[in-house]
Amino acid sequence: MTEQFLKQLRFGLSVLVLLLVACQADGGEGTAVSANPPLETDDGIIVYEELVVGYSQIGAESEWRTANTASIKEAAERLGVELIFSDGQQKQENQIKAIRTFIAQQVDVIGVSPVVETGWDSVFQEAKDAGIPIILVDRRADVSEELYASYLGSDFVQEGRDAAQVMVDLLDGEGNIVELVGTVGSAPAIDRYLGFREIIQEYPDIHIIASAPGDFTRAKGEEVMGDFLRQYGDEIDAVYAHNDDMAIGAIRAIEAYGLQPGVDIKIVSIDAIRDAFLAMIDGKLNATIECNPLLGPQFLDLALKVVNGESVPKWLPSAESVYYPEDAQEILSSRKY
Ligand code: AHR
Repeated sequence: MTEQFLKQLRFGLSVLVLLLVACQADGGEGTAVSANPPLETDDGIIVYEELVVGYSQIGAESEWRTANTASIKEAAERLGVELIFSDGQQKQENQIKAIRTFIAQQVDVIGVSPVVETGWDSVFQEAKDAGIPIILVDRRADVSEELYASYLGSDFVQEGRDAAQVMVDLLDGEGNIVELVGTVGSAPAIDRYLGFREIIQEYPDIHIIASAPGDFTRAKGEEVMGDFLRQYGDEIDAVYAHNDDMAIGAIRAIEAYGLQPGVDIKIVSIDAIRDAFLAMIDGKLNATIECNPLLGPQFLDLALKVVNGESVPKWLPSAESVYYPEDAQEILSSRKY
């Protein structure tokens, strides 16, 4: 039997015993179990191999998300961290249920990438009451700072500004833009929308003529772009997509309509996934703004610091760049996602 298996067995048994004790204490009806201190080495410092982390992921809507999940799982495996992973399938209620389960399991720390910004106060308060720190990964939640230990992720407003600056240059200061928005109510959709407008509003000859949600997926991006084309046809000079997957969907719709993506209609999107580099090499995408999904190692480093009582920043921003077609071929081979 492997060390990892024995560890999981020990953990499973201890959860079972604790739940039985708790059920007996309240007459068998079941209540939340009070927090257990995490395991410690002799010198009192918790190490990766002793860390039990619950992670509530949003789902698998994009290539970005797939890379993000893989990064978290690979880092946990490599460091010997016990990771209890839950896929929320794009539903906040599933994520809330997962967090409640993690609390009952008395994990040491909970990581969560909130599908939308609002509606987290109660469940985060429950985690706090149980003594379990929450770390926000990739997306912020609109809650008081006391309810989470740290936020690790991108500056989505800046990504929106960067996309707008690139767009202004591509359009030479004038033209009509259509916008494919991410998941409604999500932090990246809200911030990328605002950041983009912050810059565009300074250019009176650039107009955002339509804006609609594409849910961060290729299928929806294609469908919504098809609607835009039927409505506005060749009045459209450019597409701003809140992620590369929707831009790839838009490329398909533009080709189906008989226009040349990247030429007749300029396209700027966000994430910098491999398929975006391939689209740039084919001349179909004009730029992609990086949003880094490889957050696994930084997340677990933060988690360990938090459970050991070390001070951590309230926001740890990820380092990111802007990529253009002329560099796409060279950069492609080194892309990890
Ligand atoms: O929260 C990050 C965003 O979520 C990515 O830009 C998008 O592709 C993803 O699904």
